[in-house]
Amino acid sequence: MTALQGLARADGGNTCDGTLFAAIADDLEAQGFSIQPTALPQPIADSLFTHQQGLDGGQYLDAGIGRGERYVRNEFVRTDEICWIMGDSAAGRQWLQWASRLQSFLNRRLFLGLFSFESHFAHYAPGDYYKRHYDAFRGETNRVLSIVAYLNPGWSNTDCGELVLYANDHDRTGTRIVPLYGTIVIFLSEEFPHEVLPANRDRYSVAGWFRVNTSLNNRLDPPR
Ligand code: OGA
Ligand code: MN
Repeated sequence: MTALQGLARADGGNTCDGTLFAAIADDLEAQGFSIQPTALPQPIADSLFTHQQGLDGGQYLDAGIGRGERYVRNEFVRTDEICWIMGDSAAGRQWLQWASRLQSFLNRRLFLGLFSFESHFAHYAPGDYYKRHYDAFRGETNRVLSIVAYLNPGWSNTDCGELVLYANDHDRTGTRIVPLYGTIVIFLSEEFPHEVLPANRDRYSVAGWFRVNTSLNNRLDPPR
């Protein structure tokens, strides 16, 4: 294989995504997380933004914790509201297709064996929060990689509402990520506790999880 063919394969045939995907893979390999300010391709960010601004209150669910029958609301832990992306909007499909290209890239580059992706819009009203938590617990779920993309034009430092990503259980300082339009954060779901601080204005994002397949007896693992 020539060097050029190698490049074409590594970026999934999409040169625009290639540089970003490679930067994400390098960060994940080196440190288990990647913060990419204003990196989400503009057309995808704009579609998601427009779609999310058009959602009305009735299309959101109060966020809970756990999955399936273990899903419970817990206002002590989180107060945001969410709307799952099932691919029934053009914006949702664009995002899912981009995530799928990222999934293929990371599988080829890092051998992560990512199998499926689940994702939702999230809206935090002023004062809403999501207390320090892990997205997955060792051996309990099959979420491997978490991704969040922010959809807040003109976010300033005084708006607060940062995501704080902690290195481990003992880390009390963490890394603060401003939820500015197009910024992407990706991290290993089992490795990094994190929290969403209350904001002074409405805070919009898309969050997603790449999962491995833990299906048994030929029963496909349901997407959520
Ligand atoms: C989550 C989460 C972070 C954010 O939905 O699990 O941690 O910044 N979101 O919205
Ligand atoms: Mn989380």
